Amino acid sequence: MESYQSILILCSLVHFFIFFNFSFGLDTLLANQTIVDGQTLVSPNHMFEMGFFSPGVSKNKFLGIWHTCTPDVVVWVANRNDPIRDPEGLHLTILGHGALAIANARGIIWSTSSFGLVSFPILQLLDTGNLVLVEKTKESFIQLWQSFDFPTDTLLPGMKLVYNPDVGKEKNLTSWRSSDDPSPGDFCLRLTNKGLADSVIFKGSQIVHRTGAWNGHYFSGTPPFPNPIYKPEIVFEEGKLISFSIPYETTNPQRVVLDKSGSSSHFLLNSGKNKWNPTYANPLDSCDEYGKCGPFGVCTFGVTIKCQCLMGYTPKFPEDWDLQDWSGGCTRASPLDCQIEDHDFFEVTGIKYPDTLQVRLNKSMSLKECKTACLRDCSCVAYTNPYITEGSTGCLIWFGELIDTRYLSTPNNKQKMYIRLRKSELDSLTAIQKEAKEKSWSIMILVIGIVSGVTVSSFVNIGIQYMSRQSRKEKTVEDVELPLYKFSTIMTATNNFSTDNIIGEGGFGPVYKGMLSAEVEVAIKRLSRNSEQGFAEFKNEVTLIAKLQHRNLVRLLGCCIEKDEKILIYELLPNKSLNTFVFDRNRRTHLTWPKRFNIIMGIARGLLYLHHDSRLKIIHRDLKTSNILLDGNLNPKISDFGMARPFEEDEATARTRKVVGSYGYMSPEYAVAGKFSVKSDIFSLGVILLETLSGKKNRGYANCHQHYGLLARAWLLWKENKTLELLDECLTDTFIESQVKRCIQIGLLCVQRYAEDRPDMISVYSMLATDEGLLPEPKEPGFFIDAGSDVVRSYTSTSGECENGTMSMTDLEAR
Ligand SMILES: *[C@@H]1O[C@H](CO)[C@@H](O)[C@H](O)[C@H]1NC(C)=O
Repeated sequence: MESYQSILILCSLVHFFIFFNFSFGLDTLLANQTIVDGQTLVSPNHMFEMGFFSPGVSKNKFLGIWHTCTPDVVVWVANRNDPIRDPEGLHLTILGHGALAIANARGIIWSTSSFGLVSFPILQLLDTGNLVLVEKTKESFIQLWQSFDFPTDTLLPGMKLVYNPDVGKEKNLTSWRSSDDPSPGDFCLRLTNKGLADSVIFKGSQIVHRTGAWNGHYFSGTPPFPNPIYKPEIVFEEGKLISFSIPYETTNPQRVVLDKSGSSSHFLLNSGKNKWNPTYANPLDSCDEYGKCGPFGVCTFGVTIKCQCLMGYTPKFPEDWDLQDWSGGCTRASPLDCQIEDHDFFEVTGIKYPDTLQVRLNKSMSLKECKTACLRDCSCVAYTNPYITEGSTGCLIWFGELIDTRYLSTPNNKQKMYIRLRKSELDSLTAIQKEAKEKSWSIMILVIGIVSGVTVSSFVNIGIQYMSRQSRKEKTVEDVELPLYKFSTIMTATNNFSTDNIIGEGGFGPVYKGMLSAEVEVAIKRLSRNSEQGFAEFKNEVTLIAKLQHRNLVRLLGCCIEKDEKILIYELLPNKSLNTFVFDRNRRTHLTWPKRFNIIMGIARGLLYLHHDSRLKIIHRDLKTSNILLDGNLNPKISDFGMARPFEEDEATARTRKVVGSYGYMSPEYAVAGKFSVKSDIFSLGVILLETLSGKKNRGYANCHQHYGLLARAWLLWKENKTLELLDECLTDTFIESQVKRCIQIGLLCVQRYAEDRPDMISVYSMLATDEGLLPEPKEPGFFIDAGSDVVRSYTSTSGECENGTMSMTDLEAR
């Protein structure tokens, strides 16, 4: 199959070029092969799966694509208009004339259009979730069809929405009719372009919501950067055609979906929990309903919504207005007369620009020229420079009605609009404003007073707790000095917390890369504001880790506590975390067996120190591959002490109401009963060990269908005396057989079902460190099925279910 890669020369499409990786496997379907109900294609990275499904309570079948880990979240549907009512003989196939078709015993139900005769068509599900049909010729691959050209209700990274004035060629999102019916529902999210791009949600032909004109960075009606990971882009092509997309990057699975109630939301995958977290939604509140306050009205959302008239305007129907029916909007108190009056402009800041119903746009005019142009034209009611990008020129002039304006809840003061008024009106308004400003100042001062009061008291609070801890331990623990850094230093180091510097998402906030000086690179963890949970973890981490020093623990270099900023500064490890290596198809080939063994030993050494040798005995409680960082020589360092708890030597088991930690790494007694002890860390270590040597996740994309995952597989292979098969296929001849077998056995000892059967860290470490000595026989591993259930089952009772639903290599060859 290697040779296919070398002939991949010509290819027009970028996604295709980057992500099309030829190896015929679980991800490909060739001519004469079929996929029947129950079989699926799986993308090479195991992120996406394609197959037949029935939505909700419906009995109808559809062909769809979903994230392997969340099969309920279908991201694309082929035959949304052609439900399959009779599944007899149902299959997907590639027809001789290059069309993809779904058929049942009665005939073809759905198909793509035909491309004429093709000789070697290949269907592949790519890592992006794009399903592509290509024709292999001698020199290249020609793309015939791709699912990304036919979005349904979901936008995936790499997919494009397109505004195209040629009717019928646009690409939009259309909601499902209901959770049981993927056929097109009432709502449609489309791009529009009146010189400025906008994204608009329609119900039928009615606008229900507008995201606001694109200001060069984002849509003007959305919060500036809803989160650092969602970075949508608008691309203008020849001024007319525009496309909207989220660039593809592998690390953060995300999606935008237009749901059946007409709300579009952005979700990020929390892969540890296989859960999608919404980061932000449109419409945000009722001020986002299109034209809520009528013409010349402006909406404010506080506790409830409130409509006001723009400066110089009064309610058109005051009685309705008083009854909170704002739809009539506002009108000028007295009409302007351009012949005899002087006019000037009132500046409104922090707003979503009114709809561009009747506008004139000039991209090269300065703001000053814009003002002159507006003054000169009597029908101009307002103007602005709609672009907020640094140094950009531009002039947008509104005529007629200003509709769908709102104050933003996170104001961006660069978004300003200038409203035409009589000069005399403006003078009196300025006087009123000045007075109002003074009032609001006094309110602000009061608010600042309260806020800083809170901050000071909570600060004093840590101080006190910290000190009392100190005095309690005074005799045994010498003080560890933790340097305090100034906030301004951190700002400089991270380039003002530039999103470009973000290197990850820690337990309680983003992690940035920073330069403390020309040489010293550090990792900077910033506590998200107003995060109660985060604050507790922050305190915990500071007080615990400041006292710990070991070459296999990540070093805390300092912290910064200023106003409401709480920041931790760590040594920066160039190779990121273990999961980015062992689960990555390319990077894991660098991990030879000696390197993997060194990593396992290093983690064991670090944990031995935490459990037995450090001044404070500590249970980590959240050990997982993403919390194991790797330095330049791939030496491991345990990080993230946000959940860690100190314990007394004689305290065997503690209980917690709140189970924290990551699924896949939690011991059964902890996941089910909230009991934690050093033995729950041992369990997590066992999982990490088995993951590191197999290159497979215990619970992750690859294993959603195999409910019991890696541990079950390890156990089964152990019983059949075939443990070597567990080893990563990338490790061909670099390993010592006896060492690997020993390692797997130690891993299995660590993940035994009952905590008391698991060895402690001293035994684990000494078993790993020597090649001699008989090891105990492991008993069945513990599995846990679901956070909500108290079932702890072993694999043996349900063996054989693992491969269901996923096509295996042998299936493919047989077809
Ligand atoms: C969405 O796009 C499709 C495909 O181009 C088109 O047929 C449909 O009319 C569009 N929907 C709306 C509401 O314009």
